[in-house]
Amino acid sequence: MSQKSLSKLDAPKNITNNEKVVSQNDFIVSKTDTKGRIIYCNEIFTKMAGYPAKDLIGANHNLIRHPDMPKLAFKVLWDLIQKKDEFFGFVKNLSADGGYYWVFAYITADLDLNGNIISYTSVRRKMPQSAIDIITPIYRQLREAEQSGGIAASEKILNDLLQEHDLGYNEFIINLQLGAKI
Ligand SMILES: Cc1cc2nc3c(=O)[nH]c(=O)nc-3n(C[C@H](O)[C@H](O)[C@H](O)COP(=O)(O)O)c2cc1C
Repeated sequence: MSQKSLSKLDAPKNITNNEKVVSQNDFIVSKTDTKGRIIYCNEIFTKMAGYPAKDLIGANHNLIRHPDMPKLAFKVLWDLIQKKDEFFGFVKNLSADGGYYWVFAYITADLDLNGNIISYTSVRRKMPQSAIDIITPIYRQLREAEQSGGIAASEKILNDLLQEHDLGYNEFIINLQLGAKI
C-alpha cells in the first residue's frame, strides 16, 4: 500500500526554542522536483529535520518551514532558481520535535542536456553565530512588515537595507557567512 507523503499539516504545532546546532563539517543536502517536493535527502538532513527518510521523500519542502521565516526569503529563492540563477540565503528550519536549526543554504536548478530544469538541489552548511545574531532581528522586521503590508513592505525594507550598505543581495549574505558585522 502506498503511503501518503507528509505535508505542512504534519509539521509540529508546538514550536520550541530548542536549537540544534549544525556541525562544522556537515553538508545538509536535499533535492526536489520542480514543484518543491523532496526527491532525495542525505542522512544528516533526516537527522536535523527529525523525520525518517521514507517519510520525507515526496513531502513538500515546506514541511520544515519555520514560522519565523519571512515569505520574502522564499520569493527571492524561487524567483532566482526558476531563472537558473543561484540562490544563497539563511534559513531557519523547523525540526519534527518543534525545535529549529539555522543553515546557510545554496540552491540551484539541475538541468538536462537541453537546458530544461529537471530538479533543484540545496546544500546547506553551518552559519556563524555572528550571522545568526544579525539575521534574526532582520527576519523579525521583515515578517512584521509582511503582516501589515505584505511582501511589498518587506521587499522595501530589504532593498533599503541593501542600499544603505551598498551591497547586492548575494554579496550581503556571503559577507555575513564570512563573519562580517554590519
Ligand atoms: C531545493 C530546495 C530546497 C529547499 N529547502 C528548504 C528548506 O530547507 N527550508 C524551507 O523552509 N524551505 C525550503 N525550500 C523552499 C520551499 O519549497 C518553500 O518555498 C518554503 O518552505 C515556503 O513554503 P510555503 O510558501 O508553502 O510556506 C526549498 C526549495 C527548494 C527548491
